[in-house]
Amino acid sequence: MFLFYLRSLMKKEKEIVMSGIRPTGYLHLGNYFGAMRNYVKMQEDYECYFMVADLHSLTTHPDTKGLKANVHRVLAENIASGLDPDKAVLYCQSHVYQTSELYLYLNMLAYKGELEKTPTFKDKVRQHPDNVNAGLLTYPVLMAADILIHRANYVPVGKDQEQHLEIARNYVNRFNHRYGEVFPEPYAFNFNHQLVKVPSLDGTGKMSKSENQMATLYLADEDDAIRKKIMKAKTDNGPTQNNSVKPDYIENLFLLMKLVSGNETVEYFEEKFNNCSVRYGDMKRQLAEDMVKFISPIREKVNEILKDEKYLQKVMKQGAEKSTANAEATMTLVRNAMGLNYF
Ligand code: TRP
Repeated sequence: MFLFYLRSLMKKEKEIVMSGIRPTGYLHLGNYFGAMRNYVKMQEDYECYFMVADLHSLTTHPDTKGLKANVHRVLAENIASGLDPDKAVLYCQSHVYQTSELYLYLNMLAYKGELEKTPTFKDKVRQHPDNVNAGLLTYPVLMAADILIHRANYVPVGKDQEQHLEIARNYVNRFNHRYGEVFPEPYAFNFNHQLVKVPSLDGTGKMSKSENQMATLYLADEDDAIRKKIMKAKTDNGPTQNNSVKPDYIENLFLLMKLVSGNETVEYFEEKFNNCSVRYGDMKRQLAEDMVKFISPIREKVNEILKDEKYLQKVMKQGAEKSTANAEATMTLVRNAMGLNYF
């Protein structure tokens, strides 16, 4: 008996991680190094729920013709990048009906004024002035429901989503205060030094889904497209003084090289830069070949998975079952706490 007690004290339950990915567009190198690679590490140490946010996409994309293909692609890209559906729960938002129920309850704790001043809402109103629907306004409420349905502790997201997490914490506090402790406060997962920013190829900011396609490398890019994009990257005539400071666009090429080339390669070109004998054409050719070696196996794996619809359905079904079981356990607590338990 005592031993059992001791063991239960020592056995630390895994903390819960949850995140969502919108099924819009193709995954690029920035997503891979900024998010995916960290998800892959987290699946070893946490109980992870990674979700494709198909319902959220309805707030801005009511036409659902391409939705299924997009959901398949996101799943395939995530699996090809190393997420293991047997380690992390990979699922589709619309398969967990409990989220919609929790969303409704949270809506009663959500203040219109608070939602209206959310920067992401204001941005979307600007982008889609003729479709400012209530779903768009309550986007953060649905996102909070996604997180709270799993009683998640950590949410790995980019800076642009931190305001949404703060809103989620407000709902947690309002709910717990009114109905009793059910939810932990979710916090952004902080990667600190591991957070890699992948620069765009035109020397302006980061790689991004929507901006200049020629400056962004996608996991779906064919070898020739990869080569072409890299060879087009901006350079100049090279430094004229030993050990110069690198201009941003050159620093970016080195950053990319550090991600996909070997140390010796990076050192070789650093030395050439420092003694003013660097030839950027050679450097870009080398980077392009290393990039092709990096991206092409992932791209091929994605294509292989996409061809196997049975497999994708199996993954989704398994994810739906696991996430629904966890969601139902949360909703039992929620309904009991709220007194919505009539039988
Ligand atoms: N809003 C997130 C984004 O645009 C996607 C998302 C939906 C999400 N639900 C979530 C992220 C829950 C984290 C947790 O990227």
